[in-house]
Amino acid sequence: MRNIWITGAGGQLGTELQIKLKRRKGVYATDLEVDICNSEAVSRFMADNRIGIVINCAAYTNVEAAEDNPDLCRKVNVLGAKNLAQAALEADAALIQISTDYVFDGLKTTPYTEQDSPAPLSVYGASKKEAEDAIRDIGCRGVIIRTAWLYSPFGKNFMKTMASLGAAREEVRVVCDQIGSPTAADSLSDAIIKISHNIGDRRGEIFHFSGEGPCSWSDFAAAIMHCAGNRCRVVDIKSDEYPQKATRPKYSYLSKALIKQEFGIEAEPWQSALERNMKRYKRML
Ligand SMILES: NC(=O)c1ccc[n+]([C@@H]2O[C@H](COP(=O)([O-])OP(=O)(O)OC[C@H]3O[C@@H](n4cnc5c(N)ncnc54)[C@H](OP(=O)(O)O)[C@@H]3O)[C@@H](O)[C@H]2O)c1
Repeated sequence: MRNIWITGAGGQLGTELQIKLKRRKGVYATDLEVDICNSEAVSRFMADNRIGIVINCAAYTNVEAAEDNPDLCRKVNVLGAKNLAQAALEADAALIQISTDYVFDGLKTTPYTEQDSPAPLSVYGASKKEAEDAIRDIGCRGVIIRTAWLYSPFGKNFMKTMASLGAAREEVRVVCDQIGSPTAADSLSDAIIKISHNIGDRRGEIFHFSGEGPCSWSDFAAAIMHCAGNRCRVVDIKSDEYPQKATRPKYSYLSKALIKQEFGIEAEPWQSALERNMKRYKRML
């Protein structure tokens, strides 16, 4: 059994993966102490620890700040991914790269499939698309999983922000004209672990995974208030009433047909995943 390396292990997804894999032997979890932008450090870590699968959870994920820091965003998301892919190729390890629905421009009105062409609107989205392309060019074993609207009881995310705003305010204004799919990091971790057992000789194939069922950010916020037991009102607003530096796709709901067909992975309705994760979060408070 080959060893697993979780990069960005201090983040939302990295934390959930560590929890899911805590009984498995040979799991290495690192965060900033192994900078994925340092190719030598990456190759050395891979060789020293006889890594067979790298799950890259390290990323520059602040979509707004990326507009002001494009070089740093690109460095972490593109150079970091390239270094891992190159080291994986040399060690015949497999790389599981996590990408995003923000590679799409959101002009469709039906679920985005893996065949749809990316056309990112933001610095962050462009960096994640460039990483996808670079990994495919390098040609290491592994897969790319695009996900969306990730949240968990850990780190900074929309579920936690809304739960605390809802406890302090009578009303919050949330955009209702961006449609997508909230994804619980624990559900995504289960999908990643299942895929990790069946990568075989796949090289750079892309799969979509997110919560099942589309919703808007305001629908998501209202459900969070309900699960949190907050009486806070959620007021629908349009994106242009909430100016942001990074442009988000208006519609980025991901089709999960391919991941179901290839790996038998069924996505859970986003509402039940939210209920479970709000309960976990409340227990931690
Ligand atoms: N969050 C979302 O809504 C979302 C949506 C779609 C896809 N994704 C993708 O899903 C993956 C996981 O996201 P997440 O929300 O779990 O991210 P996260 O919570 O921001 O965690 C990323 C981790 O990577 C670390 N990191 C940053 N630069 C690094 C470097 N050079 N070397 C090593 N580690 C570094 C970060 O440390 P610091 O915090 O100290 O910088 C952080 O602990 C990412 O690839 C992301 O692009 C996320």
